[in-house]
Amino acid sequence: MSDTLLTIEHLAKSFGENTIHRDINLKLKKHEMLGLLGNSGTGKSVLLRSIIGLERIDSGKIYYQDKRIDNLVEDELFPVRTKISYAFQNGALFDSINIFENIAYPLFEHTKLTFTEITAKVENMLALVGLEGKTTLMPSDLSGGMRKRVGLARSIILNPDVVLYDEPTAGLDPVNTENILNIMQKMKETGTAGIFVTHDIPAAVKVCDRIVIIDKGIIAYEGTPDDLMSSDNEIVNRFFKDHNDEYAKGKA
Ligand SMILES: Nc1ncnc2c1ncn2[C@@H]1O[C@H](COP(=O)(O)OP(=O)(O)OP(=O)(O)O)[C@@H](O)[C@H]1O
Ligand SMILES: [Mg+2]
Repeated sequence: MSDTLLTIEHLAKSFGENTIHRDINLKLKKHEMLGLLGNSGTGKSVLLRSIIGLERIDSGKIYYQDKRIDNLVEDELFPVRTKISYAFQNGALFDSINIFENIAYPLFEHTKLTFTEITAKVENMLALVGLEGKTTLMPSDLSGGMRKRVGLARSIILNPDVVLYDEPTAGLDPVNTENILNIMQKMKETGTAGIFVTHDIPAAVKVCDRIVIIDKGIIAYEGTPDDLMSSDNEIVNRFFKDHNDEYAKGKA
């Protein structure tokens, strides 16, 4: 069996006159953490949303393993979304239910586990994200960093093969960023692949096996973190310049 989990071929997507993706080609291997970088508005979130069928693409194909998934109807997407999980940019917690219910939600929706089994899984997950004992707190009681961790916990509770991490560390302080990166590392160690969308170049370099840059509707650059940091590629230089990052200063 192939070691490719996701394949995107010639994906194109526009919103009206606004062409976002012209010809995206991308593969994600089993166990791989792929960094997806690109300036704001280049379509990173749209690409992640397209993978799980929250956006319909105009042309091209998306495969999960050998199964084509871009043309599935809503009911058929349900099982796909247990294997490919999207960690929303803003955590997307349900504000009217507590932390336990937020994290357990996919288990009630997608499994036949008993309440006791679900409780055990949620408690394990809370330990993984460093929020032991916080089950009865409401989302409004949490800091931004904690909300992100709860959102992440909910997106990984079904043990997916792939997690699509949409800016999981955006807006977080260094300590909370480190917490999230550690959780992502642990997921990777247990064999879960990921696509990591971020503007944080050091974070991408730290956890990714491979990094791509999306620009003007195509994957304009691909390389290992080491390649990226030593590259003289025009797209890479422009991206670093636009991000005015500490690493960019090092490169200048
Ligand atoms: N539902 C929609 N209808 C119309 N335009 C949309 C829709 N969703 C996204 N867009 C447009 O698609 C473009 C890409 O958006 P997207 O959110 O994917 O960017 P991004 O790369 O994730 O940016 P950021 O780094 O700021 O999160 C933007 O111009 C956005 O306005
Ligand atoms: Mg985005």
